[in-house]
Amino acid sequence: MDYMNKMKESIKFIKSKTKETPSIGLVLGSGLGSLGEKIENPMVIDYKDIPNFPMSTVEGHKGQLILGQLGNKKVIAMQGRFHYYEGYPLKDVVFPIRVMIGLGIENLIVTNAAGGVDEDFCPGDLMIIKDHINFTGQNPLIGQNFDDLGPRFVDMTRAYDERLMSIAKKAGEDLGISLKEGVYMWFTGPTYETPAEIKLARTLGASAVGMSTVPEVIVAAHQGIKVLGISCITNMAAGILDQPLKHEEVIETSLMVKDKFERLVIEILFNI
Ligand code: HPA
Repeated sequence: MDYMNKMKESIKFIKSKTKETPSIGLVLGSGLGSLGEKIENPMVIDYKDIPNFPMSTVEGHKGQLILGQLGNKKVIAMQGRFHYYEGYPLKDVVFPIRVMIGLGIENLIVTNAAGGVDEDFCPGDLMIIKDHINFTGQNPLIGQNFDDLGPRFVDMTRAYDERLMSIAKKAGEDLGISLKEGVYMWFTGPTYETPAEIKLARTLGASAVGMSTVPEVIVAAHQGIKVLGISCITNMAAGILDQPLKHEEVIETSLMVKDKFERLVIEILFNI
C-alpha cells in the first residue's frame, strides 16, 4: 500500500474509536510521558493496534496514543515517539504526525529531553524552542512530494509559531516558572555528542542538542501546522561538566521536572 493510503487507513481506524476531533497534538518526550495520565476521558490506543504504525523501542518511552481533554482542549498525545536512531526511515518517524494532522489538529506541541549547550542553562531548565538547526543531512521530505499535503519547497522561516511562543512565555510568568529560550540542534544519535561537536554546536548558534523533534517539526511545517517546542534540559551537553553522559541521568532529570513541565503545558493549553 502506498504512503497516503496507509495514512488514510490509520486515520480511519482512529476515527472509528472516537467521535472527537482533537485540535492539539502533543508529542511527549523521554521521561515526559506522564502528562498523558492527566488527560481526562482518555481513549488510549496502543501503537501496535493501529494499522501501519511503527513501534517504539526505547526505555522510558511507552507506545500509545491518548485522546481526550487537557486544559479545556481536545488533545491527542503520543506517549512515546519514533527516533531515527532506532532505525526507522524518517517517513516512519513522522508518520504519526501526519496521522494526527489528518485527524484534524491545528497546533502541535513537541517536547523532548535535550542536552544544554548554553552554559547559562542548568539541568532541569525548560527551554522554548525558537528555531532549530538540522545537523543531520537528513530530511523527512526527501523523496516524492505529497502535493495534497504541502508544497515541494517548504518555508521554515517561522517553523515555531510566534503566538504559541508568547502564550508559553506568559504561562511561565503566570506560574512563576522561569523559561529559557533557544535553538535546538538535531543530531541523529544514538551516540551522545563529543565535546568537540558541542563546541561546534555552540559556535553555530545552538543552545541545546537532541536526537528528535526536528523531523516532526518539518512535516508540521509542510502541512501548515503551528508548532510549539519545549525542551527539558536534562543534562549539560558533553564536555561542559567533567562527567560522562548517561541515559539514566536524562530520565532522572526529566522525572524531577515533570510536575513543572505538566503545569506549564496545561496552562499553555488553557490559553491557546
Ligand atoms: N545529547 C543529545 N540528546 C540528548 C542529550 C544530549 O546531551 N540529553 C538528552 N537528549
